[in-house]
Amino acid sequence: MKKLKKIISLLTLAGMVFSCSQTSKLTYKDMGLPINDRVNDLLSKMTLEEKIGQMNQYNGFWNVTGPTPIQGDAAKKYKDLRKGYVGSMLNVRGVKEVRAVQKIAVEETRLGIPLVIGFDVIHGYETLSPIPLAESASWDLEAIQKSSEMAALEASAAGINWTFAPMVDVSRDARWGRVMEGAGEDPYLGSKIAKARILGFQGTDLSKENTILACAKHFAGYGFAESGRDYNTVDIGTSTLHNIVLPPFKASVDAGVRTFMNSFNELNGIPATGNSYLQRDLLKQEWKFDGFVISDWGSMVEMIAHGHAKDLKHAAEIAANAGSDMDMESNAYVHHLADLVKEGKVKESVIDDAVKRILKVKFELGLFEDPYRYCDEKREQNVIGSKEVLDASLDLAKKSIVLLKNQNNLLPLKKQGQKIAIIGALANDKTSPLGSWRIAAKDSTAVSVLEGLNAYKGNSIVYAKGADVALGTPDFITEVKINNTDKSEFEEAKKVAKNADVVVMVLGEHGFQSGEGRSRVDIGLPGVQQELLEEIYKVNKNIVLVLNNGRPLTLGWADANIPSILECWQLGTQSGHAIAQVLYGDYNPSGKLPMSFPRHVGQLPLYYNYKNTGRPILPGKDVVFWSHFQDEKNSALYPFGHGLSYTQFEYENLKVHQKEDEVHVKIGVKNIGKLKGKEVVQLYLRDLVASVTRPVKELKGFELIELEAGEEKIVEFVLTNKELGFYDNKGKFIVEPGEFKLFLGGSSKTVIETSFEIK
Ligand code: NOJ
Repeated sequence: MKKLKKIISLLTLAGMVFSCSQTSKLTYKDMGLPINDRVNDLLSKMTLEEKIGQMNQYNGFWNVTGPTPIQGDAAKKYKDLRKGYVGSMLNVRGVKEVRAVQKIAVEETRLGIPLVIGFDVIHGYETLSPIPLAESASWDLEAIQKSSEMAALEASAAGINWTFAPMVDVSRDARWGRVMEGAGEDPYLGSKIAKARILGFQGTDLSKENTILACAKHFAGYGFAESGRDYNTVDIGTSTLHNIVLPPFKASVDAGVRTFMNSFNELNGIPATGNSYLQRDLLKQEWKFDGFVISDWGSMVEMIAHGHAKDLKHAAEIAANAGSDMDMESNAYVHHLADLVKEGKVKESVIDDAVKRILKVKFELGLFEDPYRYCDEKREQNVIGSKEVLDASLDLAKKSIVLLKNQNNLLPLKKQGQKIAIIGALANDKTSPLGSWRIAAKDSTAVSVLEGLNAYKGNSIVYAKGADVALGTPDFITEVKINNTDKSEFEEAKKVAKNADVVVMVLGEHGFQSGEGRSRVDIGLPGVQQELLEEIYKVNKNIVLVLNNGRPLTLGWADANIPSILECWQLGTQSGHAIAQVLYGDYNPSGKLPMSFPRHVGQLPLYYNYKNTGRPILPGKDVVFWSHFQDEKNSALYPFGHGLSYTQFEYENLKVHQKEDEVHVKIGVKNIGKLKGKEVVQLYLRDLVASVTRPVKELKGFELIELEAGEEKIVEFVLTNKELGFYDNKGKFIVEPGEFKLFLGGSSKTVIETSFEIK
């Protein structure tokens, strides 16, 4: 009997060994298995706490990109990391640091699940390209994609495998400081740029060492903060939501973006982080997004202040049920989700769904094969700041510059024999051109305008500061003291200007006067710069105004008086070289505004795709009862799509041909000037009568072309239902028959139009 028992137990043991080796074939470590099988296998081996750990993201230990969370300290973070209660970290950067935290996750936890490492790679890592609003002014999708590719190249070499970009929030209000981080006011252009940036970051194979996850943010409505005050309430109608706000997010899903970030704001009464219509119904169900959603920094805990959650536990419950898969810095999930599951308030299936999404993306990154894939010190040294990255940054910087005005062809400057006065603190600034959102880039690493111009030797250049822009040295987290009042260096600047043939004045905002938390009610030139401009104008009218800014500014006086105005934004590391090349005509400016520039801040929000209203302008009628301001025009000073060149273009021979469901459009564009140049040919539509009113104009196509002097090209567009339709108030996409107007030109103030009918 004893013998039999022994035999049976030996057999049982053998069976266990056999079944173990069977399951080990099925384990998540088996590279030969499909990702979904590996995810399911891993999930089946995880405790509830380990699953919730994957939904938890902690900030690293030095950069802070939001308010410090209430319940987090380094010791606790390390403890949680060792227990496998952390799925991701942000703001850990550099191979050494990333390797250290990854090693804990992979080598010290029970299941060895690697971390995904997030960082705000917004317009480059250490080498910076132009701020996103500036990049968007290039309308050059290839160059934009390349710049994101370069950002991914550098960031991945520094251990990062996830960027919180692109920000695809449409915004119509230049008071909002974060317009610098987006693609401007138009959903069509914004969608194209979102796609280009996502393809640039993610490439075609996420498991390559030089590609990283992209993140479409902030879902949704963040760009519509009331009065442009950051984090403010958003209350918009369904038509604006579906036709203006959501399209770039949908385009991001279509482009294959693997992560989404929700948002700080409430949208029509429900905080975006707790909004299950947005995250579950729309994003995950209707759009079939199978990546994961991260909250914004502390946006779960902020639902308490919004008045939507009674405490952190309640916030965790709302967020998880609404489809927020990962918690950034609220400490809500790590503290409360397990209890909520045990109490039946959050189903375990909700947790499983979130964790599967997160794990899937980790497998796609190839982290299970090699968790140290992004941790190669040699690559880090070779790639960061390499020639390839610097060249791409310069290329896009030139293409992002917009020539707003050029009276009497004051530009381009002559290369020889000129006395040039350079005035303005920003001309000699090597930090401000880096712009906002540049956590890894080092101060003083941009080429200043002065350095860029001095690289050309033929002219005599004299510099005077005139006035500072802001007080002190602005940085990423401290409140900027906007109003410098010191005018003591005006006289010196006037002396220098008086003796010059041409004065180049470099004025605008410091790089940290726009960006997160940087809303302004006055969007004129900060400090005493407007006075400085007017004082210099008194002694020399030959002024080229070079603007550095992260948002549209009000430039009424400058437009009325200054002959040449060049919008140079914050152009990144190669800023000064790019500006000098355009000033001297070695690059013929080709940028077009992605946002309207108002005449007055009181016009905001201002956008070219407005509705006609029941009382549009009544020309020639001397009555008051129409939609207007008494003291200012309705129109923009410089409208969306505006941008000049050193040459001129003529539009002719517009032909429209309808073929089944398509409308084929052909337009001839001729370079009638003396220089080679680029033009962004823009096509706009207006649906004249619709069940839900349509804007007076909507961008529905554009093409960037280059023409030799005298050359002509035929540009063709094909309009399909996608361009002809719109979303009704239930969010359903429809195309309605009727008459459409078609406009073509080099800006939203188009030059040629016709109409056609859809039957
Ligand atoms: C808050 C910002 O809104 C978001 O865009 C950013 O990615 C996170 N902080 C992380 O820094």
